[in-house]
Amino acid sequence: MKAMLCKEYGPPEKLVYADTEPPALGPDGVRIRVHAAGVNFPDLLIIENKYQFKPSLPFAPGGEVAGDVIEVGAEVKDFAVGDRVIGMCGWNGFAEQVVVPSEKALRMPDGMPYEVGAVLPTTYGTTVHALIQRGRLRSGEWLLVHGAAGGVGTAAVEIGTILGARIVATGGDDAKLARLKELYGVEHLVNYKTNPDWKEIVKSITGGGADVIYDPVGGDVFDQSLRCIAWDGRLLVIGFAGGTIPSAKANLILLKGCSVVGVFWGGFAAREPETSRKNFELLFDWWKHGKLKPAISHRFPLEKAAAALGALARREVVGKAVLTVGRASP
Ligand SMILES: NC(=O)c1ccc[n+]([C@@H]2O[C@H](COP(=O)([O-])OP(=O)(O)OC[C@H]3O[C@@H](n4cnc5c(N)ncnc54)[C@H](OP(=O)(O)O)[C@@H]3O)[C@@H](O)[C@H]2O)c1
Repeated sequence: MKAMLCKEYGPPEKLVYADTEPPALGPDGVRIRVHAAGVNFPDLLIIENKYQFKPSLPFAPGGEVAGDVIEVGAEVKDFAVGDRVIGMCGWNGFAEQVVVPSEKALRMPDGMPYEVGAVLPTTYGTTVHALIQRGRLRSGEWLLVHGAAGGVGTAAVEIGTILGARIVATGGDDAKLARLKELYGVEHLVNYKTNPDWKEIVKSITGGGADVIYDPVGGDVFDQSLRCIAWDGRLLVIGFAGGTIPSAKANLILLKGCSVVGVFWGGFAAREPETSRKNFELLFDWWKHGKLKPAISHRFPLEKAAAALGALARREVVGKAVLTVGRASP
């Protein structure tokens, strides 16, 4: 089979489109013929050996796929050949086939396009967990979403809106922010690059501070967030796309009576699989009712995975980039 292989660590240009052996199938394995693969920030980290998981070389990046089941292991009860599934593989997804343990597969709702299934797990799985279980977001609360045009950011805007929050979205590019208004009707858009004192704008919009802050950027964005958070606010630590891991000032946490809350979707899904499954049922239900419409700004064939990762690294993507593998997605 073909795969986009990382044979040596480095930037996306180092990836090689090559023939490789299909993965072995264990007794609990589900073999998926991949039709679409979501592209995520951790894919950039894993090929540079900067991610928390370090698969041995060679491997393919790609943590999430959607496709058809073409073989199941002897002990698999819940899936059969022909099922349309999402696979949460962690890596090795940029390939024509991938094998996942059965608990890492989800049956897709009827009619869901493969490209939608492929972009749901990482960004939407993380965000529904972040806003519901970790952030306890309530209807009517102010939700401040940083890096809002990115993968997890657009998911936070969509899910926050569905949960009834009032949204303030930040980002570093006016054109990308304008897309958020077109796509999701976001009214309050703040450019944190051109407005260095953006925390004052947030305080003015929200009448004092945001109740829940969703931060996938880190660094100074995190520091300033602790200065525009409401009493009893929850600052959700999602990631550090800006490249700097911040330290929280304990005096500010005390004075604001707020919480700084860690979000680790992979750890949560492994420890609380039932809640994770229910989160996906919720996402599927929202999609079926037309409430969830993931934004996909870039589509590439598998062999152009480096271009997809390059677009992500250059901050050009709004929502997600997706790879199509094999035949076109219905
Ligand atoms: N905690 C978890 O379980 C979990 C799960 C998934 C992802 N994450 C993390 O969340 C972060 C974002 O992931 P993502 O998939 O949403 O990435 P993404 O699509 O690339 O979005 C990241 C956003 O961050 C902003 N940003 C600010 N400074 C940046 C910089 N120096 N380089 C790149 N982007 C920068 C960009 O918006 P502007 O250009 O508008 O500034 C960009 O849209 C990553 O750190 C990822 O590892 C965490």
